[in-house]
Amino acid sequence: MISFDSKNMTFRLETPNSTYAIFVNERGYIGHAYFGAKAGDDDLSYCARPKEYFYSENPVFREKSSFLDYFPQELPTDGLGDFRQSALALCDDQGHNAVELKYKSHTITKGTKALPGLPAVFGTADDSSTLEITATDDILGAEVILVYTIFEELDAIIRSVKIKNNGSKNLFIKKALSLALDIDDDNFDIITLHGSWARERHIDRHLIHMGKQGVSSNRGETSHQEHPFIALLDHTATYDSGRVYGINFIYSGNFIADVEKSQFNNLRAVMGINPENFCWKLEPGQTFDTPQAVLVYSDSGLNAMSRTFHDLYRDHLIRSPYKKAARPILINNWEATYFDFNTDKLIDIASEASKDGIEMLVMDDGWFGKRNFDDNSLGDWTVNENKIQGGLKHLVDEVNKLGMKFGIWFEPEMISPDSDLYRAHPDWAIQISGREPGMSRQQLVLDITRKEVEDHTYESVAKILRSANIEYVKWDMNRQLTDIGSADLPADRIGEFYHRYVLAVYRLQERLITEFPNLLLENCSGGGARFDPGMFFYSPQIWCSDDTDAIERLAIQEGTALIYPLSTMGAHVSVCPNHAIGRVTPFKTRGYVALSGTFGYELDITKLPPEERAMIPGQVALYKRFSDLVRNGDYSRIASYSENNEFDCWASIAKDKSKALVTVVQVLYRANYKSRFIKIKGLKPEATYTISWPDENSKDFPPLKLTGRTLAAAGIPIRRDWGDFQAKLIFIEENK
Ligand code: GLA
Repeated sequence: MISFDSKNMTFRLETPNSTYAIFVNERGYIGHAYFGAKAGDDDLSYCARPKEYFYSENPVFREKSSFLDYFPQELPTDGLGDFRQSALALCDDQGHNAVELKYKSHTITKGTKALPGLPAVFGTADDSSTLEITATDDILGAEVILVYTIFEELDAIIRSVKIKNNGSKNLFIKKALSLALDIDDDNFDIITLHGSWARERHIDRHLIHMGKQGVSSNRGETSHQEHPFIALLDHTATYDSGRVYGINFIYSGNFIADVEKSQFNNLRAVMGINPENFCWKLEPGQTFDTPQAVLVYSDSGLNAMSRTFHDLYRDHLIRSPYKKAARPILINNWEATYFDFNTDKLIDIASEASKDGIEMLVMDDGWFGKRNFDDNSLGDWTVNENKIQGGLKHLVDEVNKLGMKFGIWFEPEMISPDSDLYRAHPDWAIQISGREPGMSRQQLVLDITRKEVEDHTYESVAKILRSANIEYVKWDMNRQLTDIGSADLPADRIGEFYHRYVLAVYRLQERLITEFPNLLLENCSGGGARFDPGMFFYSPQIWCSDDTDAIERLAIQEGTALIYPLSTMGAHVSVCPNHAIGRVTPFKTRGYVALSGTFGYELDITKLPPEERAMIPGQVALYKRFSDLVRNGDYSRIASYSENNEFDCWASIAKDKSKALVTVVQVLYRANYKSRFIKIKGLKPEATYTISWPDENSKDFPPLKLTGRTLAAAGIPIRRDWGDFQAKLIFIEENK
C-alpha cells in the first residue's frame, strides 16, 4: 500500500514486512526518511529531521552545502554541495553542472508503469501500485519524476527515474542513476558477485569500509566480471537471519552499483547506468527513462531476500509462455562436436537421445556461411548445405519425426571481417573512423543502433525461423564492445551509444518474440555475461556459464540463485574430463547439479560410456518428477562449500510446504567423517513428512518419518560417501 500524509508531507510504501518512508521538507527537498522492518503508524519524517541539522538551526537558508552533504536525498544531485555519490547530473548548454530538485506534485495509482523500450515489471491494479513524485529544477527547465512501484505480496520496491526537458534549451544528462538509498551504517557487510569467463557470479562478502566501493561494467553488456547487484547486510547476517538490503538492476548494459560510507558514518548506495562514457542529449520536449532498479529488504537473512527476487522475476518480469512451464530436455551439440558436424551426425545424436527421453536437439554454432572455425561467417546467416545436407528444413523435419523439437544457435549482433556481410558493408561494424577496430574472438560487433543494420539483423534471424519448425533459439553474444563510434551519431550524441546499443538489443528480441510468440528464447553471452533481469523480459532462461563442470557450477549457481530463480539457469550435463577445466566427476553428480537448472545435455550421446548412457533415462525421470518443484518452489540455501570447505546443500520447497527436494553435494570427503545432519527450515512445523532418497536403493536408505519442526531443529542424517564429488537427492513429502 502507498499512502501520503499531507500534514507531515510524508509518503509511506508498505510491503508485507517492510516500510519505506519519504519525506518532503519545508523547502521542497525530497528526503529519505526510513527503509527497514515494518514501522508503526507514526509520522516517520522525524527520522530525516536530525539530518537537516545545519539547515533547521537557522531559518535563513545559508548553510546549504552543509545541509546537502548530510541530508538523505531520495535522488541526490550534483554540483551544489552534496559531495557524496550523486544519482543525477544534468548539464546545461553552457556547460554548467548543477541540479536542485524541489517537490512539485505527486500521483499514486494502481498497477505498474511500462517503460518505453525497456524491460519493466508488470502487475495488475489488484496486486501493485505506483507512486510518482514530480520534482523540478526551474532554472534548468528540467522535470524529474521519481517512480516507485510496489507489489502487495512482495518486500520489494522498484524504482526508476524519468527526466523531461521542459525548457527551451538542450540539456545533457551526464548521469541518470535509477536509485539511491541512504541508510545509517550498522557495521554492515557488502556482498557483490564477481567472476570471469567460465567463473561467473561468485559471492564476495566483506565489511564496508570508509569511502566508495562497488562494482561496474563498461563492457557494453552486464559482463562476466562484475554484476549489477549489491547487498548491504548485518555483519552477522546468515542465510536465515539478519537484515539484508539487496539491490539489483533490470538492465543489460554498462552499470554501476556503489556504496559510499561517508564522514558521518552514513551509507549511500546507488545503482544505475554507468555514467562513464555516458552523455545523453535531451532536446526541449524530450524525455529520458532510466531502467528500473529493485530494492529488496529482508530481516530474516539472505534466503528471504532470494525468494523475494525469485517471485518478483518469475511472476512480474518474465513474460514467456514458458515462464512457469516445464522446459524441453535438450541436447546441445556444442561440446559434442564443436564445428565438426553435418546432418547425419546431428540426426545420429538426436535419434539416440530420443530413445532416452530427451526432447529437443539444439544445433549450436557452425551451421551457416562457411563456418568451421570461429574466424569467419558471422553475419552470413545462410545455411551451409555442405554440412547441413538436404537443407535446414529437412534436418528439422527429421528431428521432428523422432518426436523431438529443434532449436538453433545465433549470434545476431556480430560480424566477422571474413564474411559476405562485411565485404558488402564494412561500415556496419562498430568502429572509430580512421582507427582499426580491435578484434575479440576474431569478430567485430554490428552497429545495431542504426535502423538499417537493426532491420537487416532481424530479418537474417527471422527468415531462418520462418523456414522450418524451429522452436528454440540460443541468442549468443561473444564479445564486449570497444572502439565506440557510429556513422549515425554526431559528436554530441556519441555518449548515447552504449545505451542505444542495449535498447537495440531489446528491440530486436521484442520483435522476435512478437513474431514468434511460442519461441523458447535462451540468452547467452560467452556463457553467462548477459545473465541479468533485463533479459528475463525476453527470455525465461539464460545460459549460466560455459563451465559445465558440476563442482565449478556449485559456486556459479549459488551466486546466480542468490538473486535469480532456478527456472532461469541454463544447466547441462557434459562429459569428463570436463572441457573447461579437466575435472572428472560422477555422472550422477553432474545430473543432480544440472537438475537445479533448466536441465539438458551437452555431449555426444553416441560416444558416451555405456554405464553413463544407462543413467540418462533415470535422470530424465528425475527431471520429469521434480522440475515443477525446482522451477516454481521456494529456493533455500542450506550450506555453502565456499564457506565450509566441504559440502554444498540447497532445497526447493513447494509454496504450500507439502514437499521439498534437497540436493547435497559432498565436494571433498574428509577421512573418518561419518555422517552429518542437514536442517530443513521452512516446512510446516506440525505436519509429518516422509523423507526418502529417490535415486537410491531403499534397502540401504530406508525412508524416515519426521515432523517439520524436527526437520528444522534436528535435521536429516546424511551418510557421507567415500570419495570426492559425491551427491545425494532427498525428497520430503507431507503425509496427508
Ligand atoms: C559461446 C557459448 C557456447 C557456445 C559457443 C559457440 O561461448 O557460451 O555455449 O554456443 O559460444 O561459439
